[in-house]
Amino acid sequence: MRKVEVPLGQRSYQVTIGQDARFELADTVASIGSVSRVGIVTQDIVASTEWFASIDPGVRFEIFTVGEGEPAKSLATVEDLCRKFASYGLGRHDAVVAVGGGVVTDLAGFSASIYLRGVAYVNIATTLLAQVDAAVGGKTGANLPEGKNLVGTFWQPKGVICDLATLETLSAREWACGRGEIAKYAFLVPRGTETFSAGTSIEDQVVRCVEIKADVVSGDERESERRMVLNYGHTLAHALEALDLARHFETRGAGNLGQGILAHGEAVAVGLIFAAILARRMGRIDDGRVDWHRRVVSEFGLSTELPSFARGKGEELVEYMRRDKKANHDLTFVLDGPRGVEPVRGVDIKDVFESIEELESLP
Ligand code: GLY
Repeated sequence: MRKVEVPLGQRSYQVTIGQDARFELADTVASIGSVSRVGIVTQDIVASTEWFASIDPGVRFEIFTVGEGEPAKSLATVEDLCRKFASYGLGRHDAVVAVGGGVVTDLAGFSASIYLRGVAYVNIATTLLAQVDAAVGGKTGANLPEGKNLVGTFWQPKGVICDLATLETLSAREWACGRGEIAKYAFLVPRGTETFSAGTSIEDQVVRCVEIKADVVSGDERESERRMVLNYGHTLAHALEALDLARHFETRGAGNLGQGILAHGEAVAVGLIFAAILARRMGRIDDGRVDWHRRVVSEFGLSTELPSFARGKGEELVEYMRRDKKANHDLTFVLDGPRGVEPVRGVDIKDVFESIEELESLP
C-alpha cells in the first residue's frame, strides 16, 4: 500500500492507495479511537457489488444509501442521512464511512460535519475522480436548485482509502471524468518538476495527484488563494456543463439527464485549453506552452475542441462564467503564467470572448 500524508496539524490524515486498499478500513477506523459504531453511506449500485461485501469497519455498522447523480446531492438527502444516523444511535465518538464517488463523499462528509456538530468520517473513494480529487481535501457539500455545491463545509476526513480494484469496473465516462482531473494536475507543479504522463501506471498517477493536492491543501485549507489552482480549467468547464444540462433539460425534462451529457473531465479538458489560450492572449504564456496543454490533454485521450453544442454560444458561456461562484463578483480565472498557475482577477471580458472565438476556430 502507498500512503500519502495530508499535513494539516491536528487535522492531518493519510490517503492509502493500492489494490484492495479497502481492507485498511478497520485499522483506519480503529486509529480514530473511541468509535463503537459506524454509519456507512453508499449507493445501491455500489452496495450490490461483490467488492462491497468485504467492506468491514471492524465495529458494528449499518448501511445507509443515497440516490445517484447530482439531483441526489440535496439538502433533503443530508437531512435524511442525519435522521438515519440519529435513529441508529450514532454518537459523538462514532464515525461515518463514505463508500462511493464524489456525490457520496460530498454528502457523507457534509452530513458528518453537521451531525451532532461534527463527527469523524472516512472516505473510501471508488471512482478515479473521487480518488484524485473529491475525496481528498475536506470539501463537503450539497447542491441547491440555484447551483452546484452552494452549501457545504470544510471538514477533513480522518483517512481516505483509494482502492484501485474499483477502477476495473468504471465506465468509459467515469474514466474520462478522472482523466480530465488528472491532466489538470500535470500543469500544477513548478516547471521542470516531473509529474506523470498518460503512460504512467494508474497507481503512480493517483499517488502523484494526491501528493500534489495534499501539498496545495496543506498550504491553503480553506481556499483563500492558492487552493483555487485546483479549479484550473474549471471556469469554462462549469459553464459548458451548465449549458449542456440546460439544453438537455429543455429537450427532455428532468428525466434521463445523465444520458449523453458531457462528462466533467471532458469539460475540464476543454477548459484547460481555453485557459491556456486566454493566458497567451494576455501575454502570460507563449505558443509552446499552449501546444503543451493541447499535447497533454490529447495524451489523456480527451478532446481539446469546443463541443458542437457550445459553438456560437459565447454570450451564454460568458454569462455562466460570471455566475460561477468562484468568480467572486468579477471575472476571475486560474491561469498559467511566468510563476506557474495562479488565480488572476479582473480579466478583461474582451479577452474572454476572443479566446472563446479562438478556441472555436481551432481544428
Ligand atoms: N476540488 C477542488 C478542491 O478540492 O479544492
